[in-house]
Amino acid sequence: MELILEKSLQCTNHHTFDLSRQGYVNVLSHGLKTKYDKQMFESRRSLYKSGVFQPLVDQIGGRIIREHESTREPLRILDAGCGEGSHLFAIREKIVQSSPHELLAVGADIAKEGIYLASRDYPDMIWCVADIANCPFASQQFHFILAILSPSNYAECQRMLKDDGMVIKVIPESGYLQELRAIFYEQSDKQLYANDNTVARFTEAFELVESERLKYSWKLEKALVEPLIRMTPLSWGCTEEDLQKAKDMDISEITIDLRILYGKKK
Ligand SMILES: C[S@@+](CC[C@H](N)C(=O)[O-])C[C@H]1O[C@@H](n2cnc3c(N)ncnc32)[C@H](O)[C@@H]1O
Repeated sequence: MELILEKSLQCTNHHTFDLSRQGYVNVLSHGLKTKYDKQMFESRRSLYKSGVFQPLVDQIGGRIIREHESTREPLRILDAGCGEGSHLFAIREKIVQSSPHELLAVGADIAKEGIYLASRDYPDMIWCVADIANCPFASQQFHFILAILSPSNYAECQRMLKDDGMVIKVIPESGYLQELRAIFYEQSDKQLYANDNTVARFTEAFELVESERLKYSWKLEKALVEPLIRMTPLSWGCTEEDLQKAKDMDISEITIDLRILYGKKK
């Protein structure tokens, strides 16, 4: 699908997909129910507003600015599995503040609830309900494809990425949200997150340009403890008792421990 920032998108077969009133397009042929629901996306949004992911935004935004500096082309970024859109919005804000490039930012997610929130609150971007395994976008048109804490389909990334483009994948490191893991996975090896397989799969698909770890602690206001618990798949499968225990624990600090993988086509 060619991207035109108007009221509709047109595919190469000349089918037109209208943008909804909120400004998103849905290209899934049938509705899909996922475990990522409205409450989870709203909880992620609440956490996001506290600034907890700003160091990640600075890191990714800064890297994109530097990588794209020497070209004159308008910049095109896809966030594949963008959820409620806050990462992409914040990265876009950072880029437009300091880069002269025209920028088209596109967020895609299979969960309509996430895309609805993104398009409601973040204008001037394209938001799309779509499956990352079967993306509706034309080949070789993105300079950067982001996958932040979301699954990836590397064949589709390869197809959509420009030859000199870059995939930026963010995965949890062993200490990510360790305070919650300690409560939910007491006595279990799931207390530490292992991502060796994910890194291996990434390096099979792309040339690993760099791998960097971003680790910090974040002070958590009391009001954000419940959204923290609700925003993460870690709480899926937990009993209400576990959830209550986590709420009662008075978590005052949370560990953000992420790995950022930067890859290029081989
Ligand atoms: C843990 S959330 C991360 C969302 C967002 N990147 C963030 O960090 O806030 C994982 C996301 O991947 C999306 N997702 C999972 N499978 C997908 C697929 N096949 N196509 C598109 N999105 C998918 C989910 O709907 C969810 O929004």
